[in-house]
Amino acid sequence: MSLLRLPLVLAFLVFSGPLLAATPPVQLNIQPDPPGPTIARQIYGQFAEHLGSGVYGGLWVGPDSPIANTRGWRNDVLAALKDLKVPVLRWPGGCFADEYHWRDGIGPRDKRPVRINTSWGGVPEPNAVGTHEFFDLAEMLGAETYVNANLGTGTPQEMAEWLEYLTSDGPGSLAQARRANGRDKPWRVHHWGIGNEAWGCGGHMRPEYYADLYRHWSTFAKAPRGNRPKLVASGGQNDELNWTEVLSRDVKQRIDAISHHRYSLPTGDWKIKGSAIGFAEREWLSTLAVVPRIDANLAQQRALLDRHDPARKIALYFDEWGSWYDPEPGTDPGFLVQRNTLRDAVLAALHFHVFHAHAERVKMANVAQMVNVLQAMVITSGPRMVLTPTYHAFRMHLPFQDATALTLQLQAVPRYALGDLAMPQLSASAARGADGKLYLSLVNVHPREPLALALSLGGVVPTAVRGQLLTAAAMDAENTLDAPERLRPQAFEARARNGRLPLELPAKSVLVLEVLP
Ligand code: AHR
Repeated sequence: MSLLRLPLVLAFLVFSGPLLAATPPVQLNIQPDPPGPTIARQIYGQFAEHLGSGVYGGLWVGPDSPIANTRGWRNDVLAALKDLKVPVLRWPGGCFADEYHWRDGIGPRDKRPVRINTSWGGVPEPNAVGTHEFFDLAEMLGAETYVNANLGTGTPQEMAEWLEYLTSDGPGSLAQARRANGRDKPWRVHHWGIGNEAWGCGGHMRPEYYADLYRHWSTFAKAPRGNRPKLVASGGQNDELNWTEVLSRDVKQRIDAISHHRYSLPTGDWKIKGSAIGFAEREWLSTLAVVPRIDANLAQQRALLDRHDPARKIALYFDEWGSWYDPEPGTDPGFLVQRNTLRDAVLAALHFHVFHAHAERVKMANVAQMVNVLQAMVITSGPRMVLTPTYHAFRMHLPFQDATALTLQLQAVPRYALGDLAMPQLSASAARGADGKLYLSLVNVHPREPLALALSLGGVVPTAVRGQLLTAAAMDAENTLDAPERLRPQAFEARARNGRLPLELPAKSVLVLEVLP
């Protein structure tokens, strides 16, 4: 993305005016040297599960649909996702993966069996989207593939045969079957998950038991040299450390990554999670305040991994994250339909900052989920589609894909507090983009108060900044099918004057800047 080519719709950065004159600005210094780790572009990964209309309807409409499509995948959604440069796509679940049998999803579509999706709504699963369709989608998006194998109800043999079907270029009958089904060359399989949430829907296991299963199953996750996926062990959730501890200590076989999941629920209560819109300020803060806890947990996970894996061969994949609210009234609760507001965009940007900060170990993260489910990028209704605020947060952060993280020095960051809840008002992350330019991402989490900043680069005031701002008047501002442009990034810039570059970050905003030395 070129931030510089955007039309200057709005100049939001202002010199400190009377409003903030009494408050000393937060001093923010970007330290260009020494450079930190690379921010793996896979941190901006996506997740598409067979769940509600996350795949069927939202992405896949079938080749005979009146909705314009490419080999069954809807063109409008594809075009939007291509603009996000989706680096990696996880499929087919989630919980669904542990009841998915890959042979159901190959061969002529009208001959494929119909199963019941017992994880999500008990609805028929037509298997119209299977292996060939998924890899076609990933190739069209230019995304790496992350396939989650079925440990819960499958067998090591079934898993091994799926991998052979996908990756073999030889004369064996599985490769021949793939060719007969229309794909001559093997696909590239980048990441291979062995089970999902083994502590829950994947089988309610203890980490010690799963560690043994992982040792067993990973032995048979074979693929030809040059097309060996990274093997991903299913890890823990929330504040847990135990899964990472046991897996990194007890598995001596190849383990390329350990996954971890955490969702942000406004109430923290799975029975009454909180509303996606019309929420009180307390729920704005409680939703966002999950992210500092992720930060603390990742610091602990990294410390324990450094003990068991000092050579840093094992990555952390944060392969499910995002907001989880009460289902939209009138929808099937098993479909996880929820609205998406400014709060979600702010939440996404806070996650990005934390993943950048832990880029040394966190090599992938996957928002849940890509279309129509939970914190989605795109919401569809029949032939129509709308881009969510979360979509815009992802798009604004494109310069951070494969960028080099830089150290930031922050002074005098105020706390945003409400009752017993509090978090820093400002979150910031800086990097040198793959294009060599300097980028800065800022989030002001306070829903009512702007924040004054004084920016420097290696102690020197930059000449200018320019970029994009996402904000709105209401905490729960959203894009709808009838008002799809209510929230979209606005371009702006500011220049130094008299040796100062003071900025004002509006309340509840996300700002991504290119910093010009
Ligand atoms: O993303 C929805 C579900 O959340 C996934 O299927 C599961 O892994 C997690 O519990």
